[in-house]
Amino acid sequence: MEPSKDYLFKYKGFYFAVNTTLEYVSTLEDFEINDSDIFLATYPKSGTVWTQNILSLIMYEGHRNGTENIDTMERIPWLEYNVNDKDYAQLPLPRVFVTHLPYYLIPRDLRNKRASIIYVTRNPKDVMVSYYHFSKYMNTLEEITDFNLFMERFLAGKVLASSWIDHVSGWYSHAEDFNILFLTYEEMKKDLRSAVLKICKFLGKKLSEEEVDSVVRQATFENMRKDPRANYENLPDDLVDKDKGAFLRKGTVGDWKNNMTVAQNERFDQVLMEKIKALPISFIWDINEL
Ligand code: A3P
Repeated sequence: MEPSKDYLFKYKGFYFAVNTTLEYVSTLEDFEINDSDIFLATYPKSGTVWTQNILSLIMYEGHRNGTENIDTMERIPWLEYNVNDKDYAQLPLPRVFVTHLPYYLIPRDLRNKRASIIYVTRNPKDVMVSYYHFSKYMNTLEEITDFNLFMERFLAGKVLASSWIDHVSGWYSHAEDFNILFLTYEEMKKDLRSAVLKICKFLGKKLSEEEVDSVVRQATFENMRKDPRANYENLPDDLVDKDKGAFLRKGTVGDWKNNMTVAQNERFDQVLMEKIKALPISFIWDINEL
C-alpha cells in the first residue's frame, strides 16, 4: 500500500512530510554553506532530539548555564522543515542545523569536506518501534495502529525519510566526501560523557571539566524529559497529540523485544539482516550488551 498523499510527498525518491514543500526542498542542494556550519543528520527516531540538545549545550554557554531560555528547535532549526520561513542566511555563525536528508540531497557544498556533519544511527528494530509509537503522537504522520502493517511500510521504505537501510548505507558509503563524525545511539547510552567529548573534539570545542559535566547532566533522558526547551514540549497542538505520547518515550536499548513477536522479528531479519551485516557498524540490540 502506498503512503497517503495527505501526509507524504516524494522528491528524487525520498519521502518528505507535507509540512514542507517540493519547491523549497528542491532548493536545498544549492543551499549556501559556511565553513563553520554544523549539520546533525539522522534517520528519524535515531536520537536526533537528544543529539540536537547535546549540540546546543556544547555550542551555547547560555543554554549550558541556564541564562538563555531558547527551544532547541529554534536554536538548531530543521533544514528541510523551515516552518517559520526563517532566513537561514541571517543566522549567527556558527549555524547548527538538523536534518533527515539522505546524503544525495544534502547541500552540494558539504562535499569536499566543508563544514561539519554528525550522523547518528541506532539499531533499526528500536528505530522501527520508536517510529511506530511516534506515528500515533505526531499528527503530521499517518497513524498506523496495526504494527504488522507499519513494519511492512518501514521495511519497504514507505515512510517519512524512506528506507532506513538506504539512508544509513548511503551516508556511510559516502563518508569520504564529507567531514563527518559517526555516532550511535547505543554508544551515547553506554557512555554519554565519552560521546560528548568525541563531539567536542570533532568540533574543536574546548570545554572545562565542569562544562562537560553540565552538558552530560542536562542530556540524560530523565533531565531532558523535564526540560521544556529540550523535549519539544512546546510544539503546537495541531502538530502533536499530547495524550498519545512524547518525543522522549522510553529512551532505552532493546525495547523492540517488548513490541515485536518472534514471527515479526524473523520477518524483519529475513528482509534486512544481510544488508545490516554488510554495514560497518556493530549494532547493539539489547541493553545487556552495553
Ligand atoms: P524511544 O521512542 O525508543 O523512547 P528522534 O529524536 O530521532 O526522533 O529519536 C527519538 C528517540 O530518542 C526516542 O526513543 C526518545 O525517547 C529517544 N531519546 C531522546 N532523548 C533521549 C535521551 N536523552 N536519552 C536516551 N534516549 C533519548
